[in-house]
Amino acid sequence: MHSEVKGTRIIRVNPSKPEIKSIRVAADILKKGGTVAFPTETVYGLGADALNPEAVMKIFKAKERPPDNPIIVHISCKEDVKRLTAEVPEKVTKLTERFWPGPLTIVLKASKIVPRVTTGGLDTVAIRMPSHKVAFALISESGVPIAAPSANLAGRPSPTIAEHVIEDLAGRIDLILDAGPTSVGVESTVIDMTMNPPVILRPGGTTSEELRKVLGRIRLHPSVRARREIKIERAPSPGMKYRHYAPKAEVILVEGELDAVIRKVQEIADEYIREGKSVGILTFDENKSAYNQVVVKSLGSRVDLKAAAKNVFSLLREFDRDGVEVIMAEGMPERGLGLAIMNRLRKASGYRIVKT
Ligand code: TXA
Ligand code: MG
Repeated sequence: MHSEVKGTRIIRVNPSKPEIKSIRVAADILKKGGTVAFPTETVYGLGADALNPEAVMKIFKAKERPPDNPIIVHISCKEDVKRLTAEVPEKVTKLTERFWPGPLTIVLKASKIVPRVTTGGLDTVAIRMPSHKVAFALISESGVPIAAPSANLAGRPSPTIAEHVIEDLAGRIDLILDAGPTSVGVESTVIDMTMNPPVILRPGGTTSEELRKVLGRIRLHPSVRARREIKIERAPSPGMKYRHYAPKAEVILVEGELDAVIRKVQEIADEYIREGKSVGILTFDENKSAYNQVVVKSLGSRVDLKAAAKNVFSLLREFDRDGVEVIMAEGMPERGLGLAIMNRLRKASGYRIVKT
């Protein structure tokens, strides 16, 4: 099915058996230097030919992305790593064997063929091989590595359905491939393999516990668990410097022991309601009934962090649609995917965090 919004074409594709005709339309646009939003297993990405500087500039323009924030290069064949990088440490092969295709992005020294616009001026390049069938087919068919940040306006929550992409980017890009909701829901984990021990720059769909099993010692960059803005002069991952994942509503994150968190969320929500503000609460199934008189949305069961990751960005956008002005979010343990979800919620709150 084809449609169009503000000049941006939208084509529906089957997520498990992508129609080759539609993939070719998209690949042709990419080969000619255009922009295509497409689903990956994590979030929707906004793709352009990673080796064509003018094409990559279009991504920065469409997203209003600061030019020093580098873009991940997506490949469909592990061999491509050699072309894109200056050197591949031995440990990297172990990583790609275990985690690719999948939600893991690896930072390595860049080769000369990677344009500096793509790397935001850095001498390193971030590479990922996604597992989503549509992403895989699109990259293979276009025959070039695809630069793709998340397909949202800079600073907004990442898109997990095509409607989010339309909301942010219709009229700014050539095409959107709509294959329904993405499965992981948070972005890939970014690991810097130019450092020893390797450093996780952004927690994501591949957990640090899994990575440790393969790599042994790894470090978490301080920004991963930061509870306040950290001043980074020369950020190793420039994305760290900017406010992120933010809905229009103000977000307040409450962290601590469960019962105390619920009481605190109620208390602060009541104060805002007295001030006449419209309040939303981001919680879990188990705690939903503790709240009333407000818009309550659940991430799923507290024991199912996969569901929470899949739902978090979508729910933040839904609160905006409901006209909520203040979102109170409950914290969760930073185990497994909890580390990535808490990282996103802290950033979305602009570090307005209440500890109980
Ligand atoms: O799951 C994902 O990673 C999605 C899908 C579309 O693949 N992409 C994504 O891209 O989240 P983006 O641009 O929204 O986030 C990429 C992050 C940014 O924080 C950026 O600063 C960092 O990766 N990054 C990119 N290249 C880097 C490099 N050479 N060195 C350090 N960090 C880098
Ligand atoms: Mg992003």
